[in-house]
Amino acid sequence: MCGIFAYLNYNVPRSRKHILDTLVKGLQRLEYRGYDSAGVAVDGGNDKNWDNNSKVIQLIKKRGKVKALQDEIYKQDLLDFDIEFETHVGIAHTRWATHGEPNAVNSHPQRSDKNNEFVVIHNGIITNYKDLKKFLESKGYEFESETDTETIPKLLKYMYDNRESNEISLSTLVERVTQQLEGAFALVFKSVHFPGQVVGTRRGGPLLIGVQSKHKLSTDHIPVLYRCGKEKKAVSTLPRVDGDTCLYPIGEETGVEYYFASDASAIIEHTNRVIFLEDDDVAAVVDGRLSIHRIKRTAGDDPARAIQTLQMELQQIMKGSYSSFMQKEIFEQPESVVNTMRGRVNFDDFTVLLGGLKDHIREIRRCRRLIVIGCGTSYHAGVATRQILEELTELPVMVELSSDFLDRNTPVFRDDVCFFISQSGETADTLMALHYCKERGALTVGVTNTVGSSISRETDCGIHINAGPEVGVASTKAYTSQFVALVMFSLMMCDDRLSMQKRRQEIISALRTLPDLIKEVLALDDQINSLAHELYQQRSLLVMGRGFNYATCMEGALKIKEITYMHSEGILAGELKHGPLALVDKLMPVIMIIMKDPTHTKCQNALQQVVARKGRPILICEKNDDESKLLAYRTIELPHTVDCLQGVLTVIPLQLLSYHLAVLRGFDVDFPRNLAKSVTVE
Ligand code: F6R
Repeated sequence: MCGIFAYLNYNVPRSRKHILDTLVKGLQRLEYRGYDSAGVAVDGGNDKNWDNNSKVIQLIKKRGKVKALQDEIYKQDLLDFDIEFETHVGIAHTRWATHGEPNAVNSHPQRSDKNNEFVVIHNGIITNYKDLKKFLESKGYEFESETDTETIPKLLKYMYDNRESNEISLSTLVERVTQQLEGAFALVFKSVHFPGQVVGTRRGGPLLIGVQSKHKLSTDHIPVLYRCGKEKKAVSTLPRVDGDTCLYPIGEETGVEYYFASDASAIIEHTNRVIFLEDDDVAAVVDGRLSIHRIKRTAGDDPARAIQTLQMELQQIMKGSYSSFMQKEIFEQPESVVNTMRGRVNFDDFTVLLGGLKDHIREIRRCRRLIVIGCGTSYHAGVATRQILEELTELPVMVELSSDFLDRNTPVFRDDVCFFISQSGETADTLMALHYCKERGALTVGVTNTVGSSISRETDCGIHINAGPEVGVASTKAYTSQFVALVMFSLMMCDDRLSMQKRRQEIISALRTLPDLIKEVLALDDQINSLAHELYQQRSLLVMGRGFNYATCMEGALKIKEITYMHSEGILAGELKHGPLALVDKLMPVIMIIMKDPTHTKCQNALQQVVARKGRPILICEKNDDESKLLAYRTIELPHTVDCLQGVLTVIPLQLLSYHLAVLRGFDVDFPRNLAKSVTVE
């Protein structure tokens, strides 16, 4: 829900302006995660002596988007922006409210007390915050915000105030605090008592650390430090942070910069060397050295964290010549589907090899049932491919909304294979459904777009969809890539079935031409824009279809709702007579998807019924479907492809339509109200 960013420069002189600009830029990259308020904490004071400045933490927080925070920062006449810091820690946060309305007090960093002794940024939710608050209030701590987060710095201060020794470290205090927390979180801390130090930890929320140094680093794998002996032993039994147990730059001037962030898009312009933290890791930088502690060792723990090199390019996450990320991402689809297939589909010998599944494919083929689980658009990708999955795997396929799947305590067995579809790989409901299925012994498969995300790490195996970073809150290119990835999986499942070869070849040939057909559909943009001019003042839009294109109706309606704020409903044409027909009259715009597949005649019946009620059908159909066109009020004509891939083409006019409608209605396409890109709370 929220975005976390922190920047530490050690022995690298930086002006306060540079530090604040770095924090603000980091937040802007994370704004898609939530954007109702934002804040930063930096060392305050204008003394040239850093020791004095680091004893004061300056908090600047503002309701609204990151731009509002940026304006607020530069209004501060108390701060000298030119002052230079050899070593400094700044933390920053963009929020999407869960507890308490969006305002400056509720935004992060949250603080321990009026002197800002400890400050924290938090992504996630603390479910036992009421009990913690009651306890802290009973000890005399006063609360100022309505957030669950405020309990965290206050608990930290309580631990600090009641410490048994002055030798205690910030990371030990943080370990103690997190042992009291229930829920999901990623946290980063700063304190006046530990100047120049930063500590970050996670449980259920994403957190990674970027490292930048001109000097060689001491290691490329940081061994994880465990608390020795019995769990309850004193903190002094923790192994010491020394030479080979932490990361530090080697050289005479050991300058180093660390970036803590919710995801890589915020740090990639500074460094491509990153460490992905695991749940319950406590990462601390002290004197420019990064060490990672865990409270206890559990079976299967990886004893080290690797420094990985990210391949992501900055321009991949920039808007380029497009007016919004969403528009850019819609137009990237000819390339993004190619990237999904690259190195996996061999068009010459009609084979498909998904490297992430090859060691498990025999086990998957033996399973009794496939369960495909996701939320929103990712769920729709499951609906869109269910029919071809059923056809090519000859297995029962259930497609489930993560939240409902959990609410129902759905029976899951050891011989089930469960797919978790998620662009971000961090969606809380989907992650919990994954834990639920793992506990019941099912084989778990992740289909995600985010390397290193929780879902990609926690599943037994998976498919990375390789669509490239998706920044617009409304998912577009991830959907078509999820779609193609699931079709590729169904092809791989039946590659040894003689009876399926003709069908497989038909689909693989269609995958080859798909990028060009997507380009053809995108070329209809002007036509769709003019349709949007006709529709943008309407209150409601119905989208109807069936069979392979029912998912397009739901996905199109979701896109329209979320960015245009118009009412829209995806209707299964087969259900028309069972209720929705009552909505149709001469004023109601109805978009109908009619493709030349086995449902063609039935869809035409639905079209007749809409026309008979004086409805105004806007038809998305194939170029040569003259019969259907006769009855249409307007038509959008698409090229033909194989039935099971037609949904990749039919969804694009609706992505474009929702985009144009939102622009005409004056809304911010990339940042729809009340929504966030990554939904890390239930
Ligand atoms: C809609 C949209 C959402 C997401 C949903 C799941 O455009 O983006 O419906 O699809 O929140 O997110 P992921 O795929 O990250 O699990």
